[in-house]
Amino acid sequence: MSTIKAAVFASGTGSNFQAIMEKNNLHCEVVLLVCDKPCAGAVEKAEKFGVPTLLFEPKSFASKAEYEAMLVERLTEAGVTWIFLAGYMRIAGPTLLEAFETKIINIHPSLLPDFPGKDAIGQAFEAGVAVTGVTVHYIDEGIDTGPIIAQEPVDVFPGDTEETLKKRIQTVEHHLYPEVINQLMRK
Ligand code: GRF
Repeated sequence: MSTIKAAVFASGTGSNFQAIMEKNNLHCEVVLLVCDKPCAGAVEKAEKFGVPTLLFEPKSFASKAEYEAMLVERLTEAGVTWIFLAGYMRIAGPTLLEAFETKIINIHPSLLPDFPGKDAIGQAFEAGVAVTGVTVHYIDEGIDTGPIIAQEPVDVFPGDTEETLKKRIQTVEHHLYPEVINQLMRK
């Protein structure tokens, strides 16, 4: 059986990208990091893991459809069939969604449908919930609205700060995402 090839899209520190790369017995090969921010920590991490980075500047394209067409071309050339979003702060448009239908997943730091969008941890903290968590879901044209694949709750403790809560959420993200990826790759 040939190895499934995947790309990770990340524009942040890349800690989830790192967790995927460090998973023992990952059932796919990450052949590309896609990033829209040259200074993202994820880029440095990709270098360390020997994963090529496709760095692009959305502003240099006339439209989202144009830069997504470029991405689809490059991903197809690289043999990529799955996309794992990990802190990619852009909404996918029809060009990308149609080319990779049901093959793009995302990780989000809340129990969706609660606290979609930016700063989900801050939103949960401000709301004073006793439990928040992590969701892995398929993406659609909305903001964190696609079908849910897996969720794991994280308790909010009375003495928590946003930082301590974030740390616990990230710990959950780093084991949940690679596990879910492996489950999906097995199907
Ligand atoms: C994670 O919290 C993830 O859930 C969200 O973006 C963040 C990325 O963090 N989508 P990192 O760059 O993987 O550390």
